[in-house]
Amino acid sequence: MVVRIWVSLFAILSAVAAVHLPAKRQTNDGVHLAITPACGKLGGAFANANAGVVTTGIKTLVAFGDSYTFGGRSDGGPLPAAVLNGTSPRAGGRGTDGPVWAEDVASDLGATIKDYAVSGAVVNVTLWPSEAGQSDFLHQAALFLSQNNALNSATTLYTVFFGINDFGASSIDGNHLPQAAADLLAQIQQLAAAPTNAKNIVVLDDYGRGSHSATGDAWKQAVFNGLSTLRAQGLNVAFVDFAPLWDAVLGTSPGFAAFGYKTSGACIPNLSQTNLSGECSTPLNSFYWLPGHPSKETHRIMADYLKLVLANCKA
Ligand SMILES: *[C@@H]1O[C@H](CO)[C@@H](O)[C@H](O)[C@H]1NC(C)=O
Ligand SMILES: *[C@@H]1O[C@H](CO)[C@@H](O)[C@H](O)[C@H]1NC(C)=O
Ligand SMILES: *[C@@H]1O[C@H](CO)[C@@H](O)[C@H](O)[C@H]1NC(C)=O
Ligand SMILES: *[C@@H]1O[C@H](CO)[C@@H](O)[C@H](O)[C@H]1NC(C)=O
Repeated sequence: MVVRIWVSLFAILSAVAAVHLPAKRQTNDGVHLAITPACGKLGGAFANANAGVVTTGIKTLVAFGDSYTFGGRSDGGPLPAAVLNGTSPRAGGRGTDGPVWAEDVASDLGATIKDYAVSGAVVNVTLWPSEAGQSDFLHQAALFLSQNNALNSATTLYTVFFGINDFGASSIDGNHLPQAAADLLAQIQQLAAAPTNAKNIVVLDDYGRGSHSATGDAWKQAVFNGLSTLRAQGLNVAFVDFAPLWDAVLGTSPGFAAFGYKTSGACIPNLSQTNLSGECSTPLNSFYWLPGHPSKETHRIMADYLKLVLANCKA
């Protein structure tokens, strides 16, 4: 009886302590990576892998991608402050309420980010009539090349993160994903050629955001296979597959709560709304901020996941 009372008292005191822990002392608002990325090898089935990418000494991170990577500006220049301001649900115009994963990675490395990502971007917009008018990797790479940035290859890391919008368009326009994969690899070849001579490339994928399909997996495999070719040419390449992270949060092993989330859904109800109306009661503990778009806490653990892949998955 006495023991039971003490146990209950301890439980109550623990609960009180948890509630009163100052928010700023909780790392990433209590959201943490609850899984360790599994590793594979280039030449096999798609998997997290790092063939030669070393982050020590990286001074510049050049990022291409879609809204997951968009930092509020798409010309490689200094990004707007990654904070919510006024009633807009978009921090500095981003598709989230704070920094995106690429900013977190750059910040961790002490590197300058040059961000070319654009919300809605695909690999090659000509493949997708339903995406007419959207940005693509071709335009982003062309803009980067037109700037004659003259970056040091040895200290520059390039990140390429497309596929979510291509996969979405494939259900409307037909399966042009094999061509999209080939075009993505051709763009990387262009960056690897003179005058850029890119040496360090990280390709990221999250095409289905928790859903899986044969055509999507074939896209991912085609991109992954292409990295072997780049490696054989002497490039340092890594592949980061976010599917296991999405599965772990949206599924039951271990499920969103194990990561410190209160919901696996979005905090802001509508992607197109321009104010905060309907904001959830747990804005710091939502997996998504806008529908389908990672919260700033999720971006942080995406960066952690990438860092673990680079450190643990040496292929
Ligand atoms: C917030 O918005 C106001 C008004 O548009 C602007 O003056 C200010 O610089 C913004 N602050 C940040 C941190 O973006
Ligand atoms: C983009 O796709 C179109 C249509 O398939 C193709 O004609 C074009 O060569 C592609 N562009 C690049 C640079 O891959
Ligand atoms: C989202 O907002 C847009 C524009 O305000 C509206 O047209 C659309 O119906 C909304 N969607 C949902 C699911 O509420
Ligand atoms: C928020 O924006 C919607 C349209 O997107 C509008 O209907 C609503 O009145 C706005 N709410 C506030 C509090 O401004």
